[in-house]
Amino acid sequence: MVRWVLLFVAAAANGAPAAPAGYAGSDACKTCHADVWSRFYKNPHYKSLASGKELPARAGCESCHGPGQAHIAAGGGKATIRAFSVLDARQTLEACLACHANDLSRANIRRSRHSQVDVICTNCHSIHRSPAPKFLLAAAQNELCYSCHLPVRAQFSMPFKHRVNEGFMQCTDCHNPHGTFAATWRMGLRPRMVDQALSNEEPCLKCHSDKRGPFVFEHAAVRVDGCETCHSPHGSMNAKLLRRPVVFTVCLECHNGAGTFGRRGRGEQPLVNSHNMLDPRFQQCTTCHVRIHGSNSDEFFRR
Ligand code: HEC
Ligand code: HEC
Ligand code: HEC
Ligand code: HEC
Ligand code: HEC
Ligand code: HEC
Ligand code: HEC
Ligand code: HEC
Ligand code: HEC
Ligand code: HEC
Repeated sequence: MVRWVLLFVAAAANGAPAAPAGYAGSDACKTCHADVWSRFYKNPHYKSLASGKELPARAGCESCHGPGQAHIAAGGGKATIRAFSVLDARQTLEACLACHANDLSRANIRRSRHSQVDVICTNCHSIHRSPAPKFLLAAAQNELCYSCHLPVRAQFSMPFKHRVNEGFMQCTDCHNPHGTFAATWRMGLRPRMVDQALSNEEPCLKCHSDKRGPFVFEHAAVRVDGCETCHSPHGSMNAKLLRRPVVFTVCLECHNGAGTFGRRGRGEQPLVNSHNMLDPRFQQCTTCHVRIHGSNSDEFFRR
C-alpha cells in the first residue's frame, strides 16, 4: 500500500502515472491480444485510460483483469490473470461493482431477482463485442430481454399492446433490470423490477401524466392498488389493455355489494338502486363514470 502511494506520488510528479507493482500497463497487452485492443478505443472504459491520469488499477485492461505482469511473464494463460471465463457469477458481479455500485440505478442490484438467479452483468453486457450502439449491451435491448423472456414477446404481439416490438418503447421504459427499491413499492406486492419514476410512483405516469393527480376525488383502486389491477401492462386481447373483455366485469371484481355497488349500501341508504344489470345501458360503466382514474369535481367520477 505504501509503495503504491509512493508510486502514485512519483507518477503525479512526472505528469503520467507509472504502474504499481504487478501492473504492466495496457500497452503491454497489445502484442498478444491485438483483436481486443484494436476495438478498445471505442469502449467507454477506454476514457479513463485515454485521460492518462488514472493508475492501471483504475484504468484500461488491468482495471478489470487485475495486475498482468505475472501473466505476461508466463506467456499468458487463464490462471495468471482475472479471466472472466473461469469466474463464477458472484465474482463477476463484484468485479464490476467495484466501480459501478454507487450509481442509484444499481443500488439494489445485489438483491434483484436477476442477481438471485445468477443473471449478472455479463449476461446482458458484452465488454469486448457489443453490437449495440449504447451501454455495451450484448444485443439490441428487446432481443436481449426476449432471449430469456420469450413469452413476453407474445404479449407485445397481442391486438392491444404497448408498441415495444415496433420499436416505439423498450422494456426499460418500465423496468430496471438492475433491480428496484422493492419493499417500498406497493407495500411489498410483487415488485417485478418495475422502475419507479418520481417519488416512488409507477413508471406509467411518466407518459400518462394526466392520470397522475392528485385528484380531489381519488379512485382508491388506482391510487392504492395500482394500474395493473385493471390493465395488463404488456398487452391484452381487450381494448385499453384491460384485464377483462368488458369493462363492468373489471369493476364488479370490487363493486359487488349487491345492487348498490359500494360501501354506501352497508347500513346507509343506498344511493343507487337503479344500477340494473339487466339493462345493457348500465353495463357500460364508463359511459357515466368517465373520470375513472380520479376526478376533481365529482365523487362518483362522472365528470
Ligand atoms: C505474451 C503474450 C500475452 C500478453 C503480453 C498478454 N497475454 Fe493475456 N493471454 C495470453 C494467452 C496465450 C492467453 C491464453 C488464451 C487461452 O487460453 O485461450 C491469455 C489469456 C488472457 C485472458 C483470459 C481470457 C479468458 O479466457 O477468460 C485475459 C483476461 C488476458 N489474457 C488479459 C491480458 C491482459 C489484460 C494483458 C495485458 C496486461 C495480457 N493479457 C497480456 C497471452 C498474452
Ligand atoms: C470493464 C472491464 C474490462 C476491461 C476494461 C477489459 N476487459 Fe477484457 N474482458 C472483460 C470481460 C467481462 C470478459 C469476458 C467476456 C465478456 O463477457 O465480454 C473479458 C474477456 C477478455 C478476454 C478473453 C477473450 C475475449 O475476447 O473475450 C481477453 C483476452 C481480454 N478480455 C483482454 C482484455 C484487454 C487486452 C483489455 C484492454 C485492452 C481488456 N480486456 C479490458 C472485462 C474487461
Ligand atoms: C475500474 C472501474 C470499472 C470497472 C471495474 C468496470 N467499469 Fe464499467 N465503466 C467504468 C467507467 C469509468 C465507465 C465510463 C463512465 C462514463 O463514461 O460515464 C464505465 C462504463 C460502463 C458501461 C457503459 C455506460 C455507457 O454509458 O455506455 C457499462 C455498460 C459498463 N461500464 C459495464 C461494466 C461491466 C459489465 C463491468 C464488469 C465486467 C464493468 N463495467 C467494470 C468503470 C469501470
Ligand atoms: C438483465 C440484464 C442486465 C443486467 C444483469 C445488467 N445490466 Fe446493466 N443495463 C442493462 C440495460 C438493458 C441497460 C440499458 C438501460 C437503458 O437503456 O436505459 C443497462 C445499462 C447499464 C449502464 C449504463 C446506464 C446506467 O444505468 O448507468 C451501466 C453502467 C450498466 N448497465 C452496468 C451494469 C453492471 C455493472 C451490471 C452488473 C453489476 C449490470 N449492468 C447488469 C441490462 C442489464
Ligand atoms: C408499459 C410498461 C412495461 C413495459 C414496456 C414492459 N413491462 Fe414488463 N411488466 C410491467 C409491469 C407493470 C409488470 C408487473 C405486472 C404485474 O405485477 O401484474 C411487468 C412484469 C414483467 C415480468 C414478470 C411477469 C410475471 O408474470 O412474472 C417480466 C418477466 C417482464 N415484465 C418482462 C418484460 C420485458 C422483457 C419487456 C420488454 C420486452 C417488458 N417487460 C416491458 C410493465 C412493463
Ligand atoms: C440470461 C437470461 C435473462 C436475460 C438476458 C434477462 N432476464 Fe429477466 N429474468 C431472468 C430470470 C431467470 C428471471 C427470474 C424468473 C423467475 O423468477 O421465475 C428474470 C426475471 C425478470 C423479471 C421479473 C422480476 C421479478 O421480480 O419477478 C423482469 C421484470 C425481468 N426479468 C425483466 C428483464 C428485462 C427487462 C431484461 C432485458 C433488459 C431481462 N429481464 C433480461 C432471466 C433473464
Ligand atoms: C414510455 C411511455 C409510456 C409508458 C412508460 C407507459 N405507457 Fe401506456 N401508452 C403509451 C403510448 C404512447 C400509448 C399509445 C398506444 C400506442 O403506442 O399505440 C399507450 C397506451 C396505453 C393504454 C391504452 C390506451 C388506449 O387508448 O388504447 C393503456 C391502458 C396504457 N397505455 C397503460 C399504461 C400502464 C398501466 C403503464 C405502466 C405499467 C403504461 N401505460 C406505461 C406510452 C407509455
Ligand atoms: C379501476 C380500474 C382501473 C385502474 C386501477 C386504472 N385504470 Fe386505466 N382505464 C380503466 C378503464 C375501465 C379504462 C377504459 C375507459 C373507457 O372505457 O373509455 C381505462 C383507460 C385507460 C387509458 C386509455 C384512455 C384514457 O383515459 O387515456 C389509459 C392511458 C389508462 N387507462 C392508463 C392508466 C394508468 C396509467 C393507470 C395507473 C395510474 C390506470 N389506467 C389505472 C380502468 C382502470
Ligand atoms: C380493485 C378494486 C376496484 C376496482 C377494480 C374498481 N373499483 Fe371503484 N372503488 C374501489 C374502492 C376501494 C373505492 C372507494 C370506496 C370507498 O370509499 O369506500 C371505489 C370507489 C368508486 C366509486 C365512488 C364511490 C364512492 O362511494 O365514493 C365509483 C363511482 C367507482 N369506484 C366506480 C368504479 C368503476 C366504474 C369501476 C370499473 C371501471 C371500478 N370502480 C373498479 C375499488 C375498486
Ligand atoms: C347511466 C349512468 C350510469 C352507469 C352506466 C353506471 N353508473 Fe354507477 N352511478 C351512476 C350514478 C348517477 C350514481 C350515483 C350518484 C348519485 O346518486 O349522485 C352512481 C354511483 C355508483 C357508485 C357509488 C355507489 C355507492 O353506493 O356508493 C358505484 C360504486 C358505481 N356507480 C359503480 C358503477 C359500476 C360498477 C357500473 C357498471 C356496472 C356503473 N356504476 C354504471 C350512474 C351510472
